[in-house]
Formats: sequence, structure tokens, C-alpha cells
Amino acid sequence: MSANSFAARLLGWYRRHARVLPWRKHKEPWATWVSEVMLQQTRVEVVIPAFDRFLKRYPRPADFARASDDELHAAWRGLGYYRRARLLRDGASDVVARHRGSVPSDLDALGALAGVGAYTRGAIASIAFGHAEPAIDGNVERVVARHAGIDSDVKRSATRRRIEAIVRERLPISRAGDFNQALMDLGAMVCTPRSPKCRVCPVADDCEARRLGVEQELPRLPARRAPIAVQARAVLVRHRDGRVLGGRIEDGAVNAGQIELPSPGILADHPDAGDALAHALFERYGARFAIGEVVARVRHGITHHRIALEVHAATLIGRSGVRLKWHAIDFDTVPWSTPSRKALRIGDLARVRAVSDEGLASR
Ligand code: ADE
Repeated sequence: MSANSFAARLLGWYRRHARVLPWRKHKEPWATWVSEVMLQQTRVEVVIPAFDRFLKRYPRPADFARASDDELHAAWRGLGYYRRARLLRDGASDVVARHRGSVPSDLDALGALAGVGAYTRGAIASIAFGHAEPAIDGNVERVVARHAGIDSDVKRSATRRRIEAIVRERLPISRAGDFNQALMDLGAMVCTPRSPKCRVCPVADDCEARRLGVEQELPRLPARRAPIAVQARAVLVRHRDGRVLGGRIEDGAVNAGQIELPSPGILADHPDAGDALAHALFERYGARFAIGEVVARVRHGITHHRIALEVHAATLIGRSGVRLKWHAIDFDTVPWSTPSRKALRIGDLARVRAVSDEGLASR
């Protein structure tokens, strides 16, 4: 056992090796919140430029609370997982409605904001407000499971509680924010999922996984479910002016608020491109299509689904389709969904006969 406490060794290491990150310069609660949401599913290098751009455009929660869907998509460009941004906007609206625009420091009030779960609450509370709260993400989970030699599935609630109890026990009351971020940095740089660098780890001396030689086997994760294969279909209808037909994805669906090529839905299985597809499109949009050949094939993964998307050239029949509009193939100004972007990038548009916009609500 080392003479110095776990926290003292970790913080000593952090003083020398902490990553220099823009959101660490000034610990302002809104900036901390934004950075933590961005970092949840996205690598640090991708977050850095997006974070600076975002805060310049939306310096306070009230500014972002007013953002339209299209503005939100522009601000979140490059980060993906747009649902996070929508929840952040909902949370910012809660701050305006309930806390006169200032992010609350009270733990219960923080946790009651839309989109703020246990991790984000702990991160904002400890980093921005100095509360002695844990913030346990995947990196922290791995570091603690290894150091304490926890051999049970880390996603089970009993294991999560055990990990949280260990973090709470080791958390220095006056430096919780640094301690949490030091654990994250250690997980990202030293105690990495594969080939951890135990030789340079400040807490290797009393690491249980290392003592037993099982550091590569921990943390124990649940067996992955096999992905569900989906054959999705969409249609590409081209206007003479270069725009194509798209629909806004409804609230509550995957990729809500984005624009997609007309389809029965990205998770709807349509092995055959015949009447069933035309019927499903009519049901969704009130538009009748004549469906032609396949002009693009793309693959796309969403959590548990492996999607093979075939995009058919199509034309509209008759006057119909009020739920669809013409959109430019411009990825900076139109929030095309990722599968639609892929299709529009590779699709052979020359094989899609251009139509005029007779009968359609044009803009
Ligand atoms: N990952 C998520 N939040 C982080 C933070 N504050 N510092 C380092 N890595 C992180």
C-alpha cells in the first residue's frame, strides 16, 4: 500500500499531466454543461473547435433556448447525436423558465433539468460549483473497476453503486472537480481500454487488477447483443433546379428535427421495393410516388441496428405531398440526416429524372 492516499497521488499526476482543454480555463456552469454534453459521445479533438464556436454563438442558456431546429443543427455540426443538442436546448429552456437564466447550483434543481442525468449533474456540480459529487463516465468506471479489482458486470446497478461508493470515499471534499477530471484523464491517457500503461500510472502500486494480472480483462462488460439487420428504402426525387425532396423527421423519432429523403423510416424494414414501399410512403407523407431503379446503396449503424439503405430514383404522381419540401443538397445549411447525406454524396443523381414542382408546397 502506498503512503500517499489515492487522491493525493492522482492529483499529483494531474498537476503534471492534465490535458489543456478550453473548458478548463474558466469554470462557468453553462460552459461546463455544454462541454460535458459534447464530450459524452464525441472525442476531445472533435469537441474543441465545436465548443468554442458554440459558446461564441450561445454564451448563455437563454441564447440557446431560443435556437430553431436549423440553428441547433448548424451549431452542433460535426458532433453527431443531435438528440443531445435537443435535450440541451430543453434544459436551457428549463433554466430560463425556472431559474431566471442562471444554471442552478442546487443538486436537486440541477438534476431536474431536461437532459441532465447523474453523470452530467455530478460533472457540473463538482467542476463548476465545487460540490463533492462523483461524475462517473466510462473512463472512471474502468479506472475504478481495475483499481479495486471489481469483477462483476459494470453495467449492473449493484456494481454501479459499488463503484460510486468507492469514488465518494476517495473524493477530496475541496477538490472534487479536479479529482473527477483527473480520473477521466487517467482513463483516457493511461488506464486505456487496451494496453493500459501501468508503468506510468500513479496508482499502480495498489491496483488490484494489476496485482492479479487481469487489467486487460476488466472492466467486465455485458455481452453485446447482435445487431438487428434492417433493409431500409428511401426515394430520391429531383427538382429541375437541383433541389431534392425531403421531409423533416418528427419529434420522438430517431434523428428528430433533421431532414431525410422520403422513406417509411430509417428503421422500417422493406425487403421489397414494390407496392408495400409506395403504400408506406403514401401513409407517411400523403404523396404518391412512381418508384424506379436503385441509385445509391449505403450502410449505416444506429445503436442496435445495422441498416442497409437502398435509395430509388422516383417521381411524384399527381398533386400530393404537403408533408415534403424541396431542399438544397447543401450540408452546411440543411440538416440532412447522416444516412441521407451518405446517399446524396454517392448517389448517381444523373439517373434520376428531374421534375418540376407542380402540386407541391414549394418551400
Ligand atoms: N470527458 C468528459 N468530460 C471530461 C472532462 N471534463 N475532462 C476530460 N475528459 C472528459
